[in-house]
Amino acid sequence: MRGRVLAIGGSDSGGGAGVQADTKTITALGAYAATAITAVTAQDTLGVHGILSVPPDFIRLQAVTALADIGADAVKTGMLGSAAVVETVAALLAESAVGVPLVVDPVMVAKGGARLMAEDAVSALKRSLLPLASLLTPNVPEAEVLAGHAITTVDEMRHAADALLTLGVPAVLLKGGHLPGPTVVDMLATVNGVALLERPRIETRHTHGTGCTLASAIAAGLAQGMELREAVVRARAYVQAAIAEAPGLGRGQGPLNHAAGGHAVAQSGTAILAK
Ligand SMILES: Nc1ncnc2c1ncn2[C@@H]1O[C@H](COP(=O)(O)OP(=O)(O)OP(=O)(O)O)[C@@H](O)[C@H]1O
Ligand SMILES: [Mg+2]
Repeated sequence: MRGRVLAIGGSDSGGGAGVQADTKTITALGAYAATAITAVTAQDTLGVHGILSVPPDFIRLQAVTALADIGADAVKTGMLGSAAVVETVAALLAESAVGVPLVVDPVMVAKGGARLMAEDAVSALKRSLLPLASLLTPNVPEAEVLAGHAITTVDEMRHAADALLTLGVPAVLLKGGHLPGPTVVDMLATVNGVALLERPRIETRHTHGTGCTLASAIAAGLAQGMELREAVVRARAYVQAAIAEAPGLGRGQGPLNHAAGGHAVAQSGTAILAK
């Protein structure tokens, strides 16, 4: 086991997304996972049936306790929910996780359509959390909200990524899973330029938690000392394997197989899945 990741986000009782996906992913990739839970959701593959928010002070206590004793080589944030939680998490990271790589997955809406972030939290995210981030991983609808324009083409993805780089974050991975077409295009943008990462789309309804899985896989790689690009490449390969080998559970958008190829990845690093 190498690398410690603190995942800050919501619990998914269905086990497919949120801190459950984070923990499975980080473990499968050979790193150690600690968590600070921001909200407890009652959730299945059909949707979110209830949300119980954790008070900001108690989110803070979970995170600082884990950071002080276990420590972290990378932090990943997911569902934060409200402006107060965003501010709390930003403040505690600025105090207790200085210099630790931070992957921010700006979770706004669940795959089933439930809103997971209040509207006023978006400006708090831009103002206080993004300046601390090493990488921002929006999907297309989230990038539209953050950049303020519609995205229907790869060119518009590029414009949005450029706009997001002006928010104080050094790298953006804009995920193209929501755009139609036989190829899924993710865009990794940094001040040094843009890389298009393309994969054939897997025809499946089992994509619950792909975003959480991808972001925590990247955080695991950063915690293990990988360069950003290498961590992103391994994470994408891991997500593809986990989608391809999904167990087919539930009547809606089912979870991934977080054990897919994971043991092999943990044993031998990037080589096996990055092909
Ligand atoms: N059908 C698919 N086939 C192959 N790759 C996919 C597919 N759907 C998503 N991905 C990949 O999964 C990763 C997550 O992308 P996606 O756009 O689904 O994120 P997301 O919308 O944040 O997910 P979530 O709804 O879980 O938050 C990306 O690397 C994307 O390319
Ligand atoms: Mg997402």
